[in-house]
Amino acid sequence: MFSEKRNMWQTLILIAFGFGFCHGNSCSIDDSERIDCYPETVPFVQENCEKRGCCYKPYEGENADNIPWCYYPSDYPSYQLSQLKQTSQGFSGKLMQMSSTHQRIENEINELDLGLYLETPTRLRIKISDPHNSRYEVPIETPAVKNATTDPTLYSVFFQSSQFGITLKRQSSGNVIFNSSAGPLIYADQFLQLSTFLPSKNIYGLGERHEQALVSTNWKRIVFWNRDQGPDSNANLYGSHPFYMCIEEDGNAHGVFLLNSNAMEAELQPAPALTWRTIGGILDFYVFLGPTPEAVIEQYTMVVGRPVMPPYWSLGFHLCRWGYETSNHTWDIVSKMRAAKIPQDVQWNDIDYMTSKRDFTYDKANFDTLPQMVNDLHNNGQHYVMIIDPGVSNQEATGTYPPYDDGLAMSIFIQDSTGTKPIEGRVWPGKTVFPDFTHPHSGAYWQKQLQSYHDQVPFDGVWIDMNEPSNFADGSTAGCHGNSTLDNPPYVPDVTGAKLSARTLCVDSKQYAGVHYNLHSLYGMLEMKATSEALVNIRGQRSFVISRSTFPSAGKYGGHWNGDILSTWEDLQQSIVSVINFNLFGIPLIGADICGFTKNTNEELCIRWMQLGAFYPFMRNHNDILMRPQAPIDFSTDAQNYMRDVLSMRYMLLPHLYTLFYAASVNGTTVARGLFSEFPTDKTALIVDQQFMWGQGLLISPVLQKGANSVHAYFPNGLWYECMDFGTTIDSSGSWFDVNAPINQTVVHFRGGFVVPGQYPAVNTQKSRMNPLILFVAPDRSGNAAGSLYWDDGISLDSAKESNFLLATFRYSQNTLTSEVAATFKESVKLGTVFLFNVKTKPRDVTLNGVSLQFRMIENNALDIELSVDVNKPFVIKVLP
Ligand SMILES: *[C@@H]1O[C@H](CO)[C@@H](O)[C@H](O)[C@H]1NC(C)=O
Ligand SMILES: *[C@@H]1O[C@H](CO)[C@@H](O)[C@H](O)[C@H]1NC(C)=O
Ligand SMILES: *[C@@H]1O[C@H](CO)[C@@H](O)[C@H](O)[C@H]1NC(C)=O
Ligand SMILES: *[C@@H]1O[C@H](CO)[C@@H](O)[C@H](O)[C@H]1NC(C)=O
Ligand SMILES: *[C@@H]1O[C@H](CO)[C@@H](O)[C@H](O)[C@H]1NC(C)=O
Ligand SMILES: *[C@@H]1O[C@H](CO)[C@@H](O)[C@H](O)[C@H]1NC(C)=O
Repeated sequence: MFSEKRNMWQTLILIAFGFGFCHGNSCSIDDSERIDCYPETVPFVQENCEKRGCCYKPYEGENADNIPWCYYPSDYPSYQLSQLKQTSQGFSGKLMQMSSTHQRIENEINELDLGLYLETPTRLRIKISDPHNSRYEVPIETPAVKNATTDPTLYSVFFQSSQFGITLKRQSSGNVIFNSSAGPLIYADQFLQLSTFLPSKNIYGLGERHEQALVSTNWKRIVFWNRDQGPDSNANLYGSHPFYMCIEEDGNAHGVFLLNSNAMEAELQPAPALTWRTIGGILDFYVFLGPTPEAVIEQYTMVVGRPVMPPYWSLGFHLCRWGYETSNHTWDIVSKMRAAKIPQDVQWNDIDYMTSKRDFTYDKANFDTLPQMVNDLHNNGQHYVMIIDPGVSNQEATGTYPPYDDGLAMSIFIQDSTGTKPIEGRVWPGKTVFPDFTHPHSGAYWQKQLQSYHDQVPFDGVWIDMNEPSNFADGSTAGCHGNSTLDNPPYVPDVTGAKLSARTLCVDSKQYAGVHYNLHSLYGMLEMKATSEALVNIRGQRSFVISRSTFPSAGKYGGHWNGDILSTWEDLQQSIVSVINFNLFGIPLIGADICGFTKNTNEELCIRWMQLGAFYPFMRNHNDILMRPQAPIDFSTDAQNYMRDVLSMRYMLLPHLYTLFYAASVNGTTVARGLFSEFPTDKTALIVDQQFMWGQGLLISPVLQKGANSVHAYFPNGLWYECMDFGTTIDSSGSWFDVNAPINQTVVHFRGGFVVPGQYPAVNTQKSRMNPLILFVAPDRSGNAAGSLYWDDGISLDSAKESNFLLATFRYSQNTLTSEVAATFKESVKLGTVFLFNVKTKPRDVTLNGVSLQFRMIENNALDIELSVDVNKPFVIKVLP
């Protein structure tokens, strides 16, 4: 019986009972490996450092400001591991603190429980908690695994007991992917720290950030604490995602997620090593073994939740601005877009539409025709989305403003530290209170407000902003007491504004599920959940929610835009990193404000931005108040033509995008991705972040420089066929090319080896969905290609559950294109054209299921095959040379 099961001790192949560090001086540590023992940003003296039992050694020279002068000695007393035993889920052990005479951090916890959960062959969880006092744990749903996996694992685990350390190795290569002996484990009530060596410097993720995709390991501190903060490389931004992916030297990839929502830092250093430092909760790590980058994201989203399947219309073009002033003005823009035949699916409104900026109201004087405008959008196959902020005005007379009255009656608002009254802040409407989305009735409350507004203005999706939550009064209109250990913790991460309450609520304010100190960074994600659920109930269709604040699992409920960026070439470039990162975070519905938000844009920048933005998974042009108008119709006829061209290109490729979203929703793969995700063994691809891909088959190489007429772009090994030019081929062994890109041109390539589905475009998705489909068949060097198409009605909640969708796989090989149909849709889905690339000579004949078809050679060795076939039925197309 026993031999049938794999013995778990095979995973834990060694328990190294270490001997401490008896060799040499415990302070003689390589500079790059110094783990900071004085991370406080205030100046300190040698005495303070030594009081902590740490080594003090000033450092001069390069990086002098960053290399810690005060660092942990290698024999710093940490914890000792004992009572290691096997459990049904893996292993457990006790960690006992080693005695120290030094004055260390306040309230250290002497005894800890260690839990090691061997959840799947590619995933393990390491949890360190307090056996005597229950501590806050993040209330997101993660898979409940009762028993350890009985399959061979990709990892093996080693412990060091006398100076506790945990090491993980990849079984196949022996690579050490995690080694917590990089520094001591520190576990105090409000200071928890664990360091790990990294197997390479190829680190991605850790956000929300405004900088390059590859995370710097040159003494870089990343702070996690959701904040209303214009994107800046040195600030904590709107969302917290304590998750990284690492590509090892041999191209294998793994991921590490710290499930913790407290104010936190990740400090990277050149060892390479990473130190996690959080001020609450527990240490709860998930490690994902990949081994491919995409497998890491599949495994990560298995834990935090798969991305939501968006409605088809939401993949069209969205137009918005702050400062439309009236509904007639908004409507006029929509009419002009229609007259110019520029594709548009969704019109939005910012806070202008509200009465005195109060949620769930509209200004009946200036936005008098809003309901009519929304009906007109609907009658034209278009949709409407408006902004909602979480702050609810508490200044209206009793009985006149249900959002406040209902919230009070249901005790829905976050309370101040006394727990007797709602904490009051100040946001757009003036003084406000804040719904507590951890309250069990908050969903019903929120839905009631959305429903009553929907009864007046039948919106289709919701944009939730200011939900970090933002508060113009630091803490509250009455400040914060600043005398509790929450308000004034022993260690404050390097947050922008220096205080946890800066630009948000006092952290000792009370929520149903606990104190704001713990729950702060979950606020936006929980509002997304409430909003998405309400939308489903109100409309009976898939929801569409875009949120500024996010946290792991936000992708289950909606998407994100990267906030208040500038109309600059720098922010145009940087937006690609946001797109790549949020796909790693399981939130693929991501975009940036096209043409830029703050500052005035200009025609060239806006054209280039529309050309890049046409490849954001979520495509919205949005503008700040008082800035020059930047809708497509606000520019010259030439500019409008270029914008229309690239919008048509996006609409043509929407079936591919939609299929990628389907794959994301079922398997958790990314939609848009960095080249490093597809080519992890290509050292150049690891650093490219000015280009990106849609899935595996499409490479986007945008123009990002003023005045440029070409793109210097990297093409990994393979064949690449230009999209606009129908098949101009680049045959690359992995090198840089200068591709012609005049202002009317967007550089996009099909990748050899892939079949990409498309559709003839139209002015909105309701119309384009009635057009015939296209298949772009891009063979690799051996003449093979494959790809798939997902199709459904675009809105139903249960297409997948009710098996009412088409799922077809296309394979091209030996001059034959065949389809395999795994599932069929109730309506016919017509394929009208196949473009086949790399055809050297005109074929003798092309047949569909044995019957001759019309075809012609077009430029660049491409073949245009015209047909009419329902993709619900399998077919065979033969090209007879
Ligand atoms: C899980 O573990 C428990 C306790 O060891 C055992 O009783 C149970 O049979 C296991 N279940 C499975 C499905 O292996
Ligand atoms: C982990 O790090 C410690 C401290 O530097 C080192 O002694 C040990 O060899 C490392 N373990 C492995 C498996 O590399
Ligand atoms: C909006 O347009 C309608 C119809 O032309 C008009 O009756 C109304 O007065 C306009 N509203 C405003 C605020 O200008
Ligand atoms: C904090 O300050 C408030 C107001 O000044 C006071 O009422 C309260 O008792 C103080 N709490 C503590 C823990 O000192
Ligand atoms: C999901 O993953 C499985 C296993 O790798 C694969 O067979 C399937 O095609 C994927 N589904 C989609 C929609 O990509
Ligand atoms: C771009 O403009 C040039 C010059 O007018 C023209 O030759 C070219 O065909 C245009 N390209 C596209 C994709 O429209």
